[in-house]
Amino acid sequence: MQPLSGKIILLGVTGGIAAYKAPELARLLIRRGAEVHAVLTKHALEFVTPLTLQTLTRQPVHTELFQLVREQEIGHIALPERAHLLLIAPASADVIAKLAHGLADDLLTTMALATRAPVLLAPSMSDLMYDHPAVQANLEQVRRYGYRTVEPGVGALACGRVGPGRLPEPEEIVEEVEILLAPKDLEGERVVVTAGPTEEPLDPVRVLSNRSSGRMGYALAQVAVRRGAQVTLVSGPTELPAPRGVELRRVGTAEQMRDEVLAALNGTTILMMAAAVADFRPRTAAPRKLKKGAAQTWSVELERTPDILLDVAKRNEQQFLVGFAAETEELLENAWRKMQEKSLDLIVANDVTVPGAGFEVETNVVKLLDRDGKIESLPILDKEEVAERIWDKVAAMRRRREPG
Ligand code: CTP
Repeated sequence: MQPLSGKIILLGVTGGIAAYKAPELARLLIRRGAEVHAVLTKHALEFVTPLTLQTLTRQPVHTELFQLVREQEIGHIALPERAHLLLIAPASADVIAKLAHGLADDLLTTMALATRAPVLLAPSMSDLMYDHPAVQANLEQVRRYGYRTVEPGVGALACGRVGPGRLPEPEEIVEEVEILLAPKDLEGERVVVTAGPTEEPLDPVRVLSNRSSGRMGYALAQVAVRRGAQVTLVSGPTELPAPRGVELRRVGTAEQMRDEVLAALNGTTILMMAAAVADFRPRTAAPRKLKKGAAQTWSVELERTPDILLDVAKRNEQQFLVGFAAETEELLENAWRKMQEKSLDLIVANDVTVPGAGFEVETNVVKLLDRDGKIESLPILDKEEVAERIWDKVAAMRRRREPG
C-alpha cells in the first residue's frame, strides 16, 4: 500500500511564480497514492494552466465558485467534505491574509472555510513580503485556527534577492503531508535508530568499512516520525540527507556509535539497530599516514569492537530491542541465535544473496522473527515500505504488551 492511498487532497494553487512547482507536487502526491483535486485562484491561472493539472491529476480542475455550486446540484458530495487535507502550495501573502480574516471571495477561500479537514499552507513570496509584520501576524492567526504551515526555504528568490520565502521543494511538502496524514500509532514512543556503516581508521587517510548505504535505517527513522514517534537517528557516514523531524547525530566508528546510543538511551523506549556496525577494527590507528615502502604484503591486526546491542541488552532497561541480521546462509537459524544472544524482541533477517535484498539497492526482502518464534516473510518491497511493515509489527507487539 502506498502512504497516501485512499487520501483525497485538495491542492489549492495561488498566484505566484512558485505555482510552476504545483504540477510536480500534484504528480508526486498521486505517485504516493493520493487522489488530487486542484483548485486554482484567478491569479494562479496566469502562472499555470488548468490543462496541465487536469492531465496530471485526471480530475477536473476547479477555478470558479459556480463550479462548486453546480457539483452540488448534480449530486456530487462536496469536495471540502470528502477531502482529507486542504494543501495550499504556493500560498501567497494575499491568500494567507484572506484566510486569517475568514474571507471567502473565491472558490479556494470558500473551501477553506467549508472543510473540516486539516489545512496545510506552504507560503511563498519575496523575503521582504514574508518578513512584513502583517504577513507574520496573519500566519500566527491562521496557526491559531489550527492550520499548519511548511517553513519556506531560504535561497535565491524569483525577485533576484536571497532570503526566506522560497516554496520548499515538492518532495519536502509531500513529506509534511505524509507526517500530517499518517496514523499516529507510535505516539509517545522515543526511538533511537542507528543506520549506515561505521568506519574504523587504520591511519588518517584509510578506514575499514562496509557497503551499507544507510537507506534502511533512514527509512525507519522517517516512517517513525510520520507515525508520531520522537526519533534520534545515530548515523554512520552516508550520503543521505537528514529526514525531516529527526534528530540526527553523525558518528564515525563503532565506539562513537555506542557512545551516542548510550547517551540517547535515557527515556528511549525502542532501539532499532539497523546500522551495519563493524565487528572488528584495527588494533591501532596510526597517527600518521602509513607508508608502503618496499612491502609486498601487509597484515593488519584487528580487534573486536563493542557490541552495541549486547551492551544495551545487558543494562536491562526494558527498551524494546530490534536487531538486524544480514546473512548469506542459514538465515533463520542465525537470526534466531542472534535474537537469543542479544535478548532481542524482534529481528529483521535478510538473505543478502537474494536479488533485490541487501545493501546497495532500493528494495529489500526480509523476514521478521519475533521473540515468540513467529515468522513473517515479506515480499520484495522498497525500503520505505519495508520500514512501514517493520513498524506495523513493532506497534502491534507494543499494543499487546499494554495492560488491559
Ligand atoms: N551490532 C551491534 N554492535 C556490533 C555489531 C553489530 O549492535 N558491534 C548489531 C547490528 O546493528 C545488528 C545486529 O547487531 O542489529 C547484528 O548482529 P551480529 O551478530 O553482529 O551480526 P553480524 O554483524 O552480521 O555478524 P556475524 O554474522 O558475523 O555474527
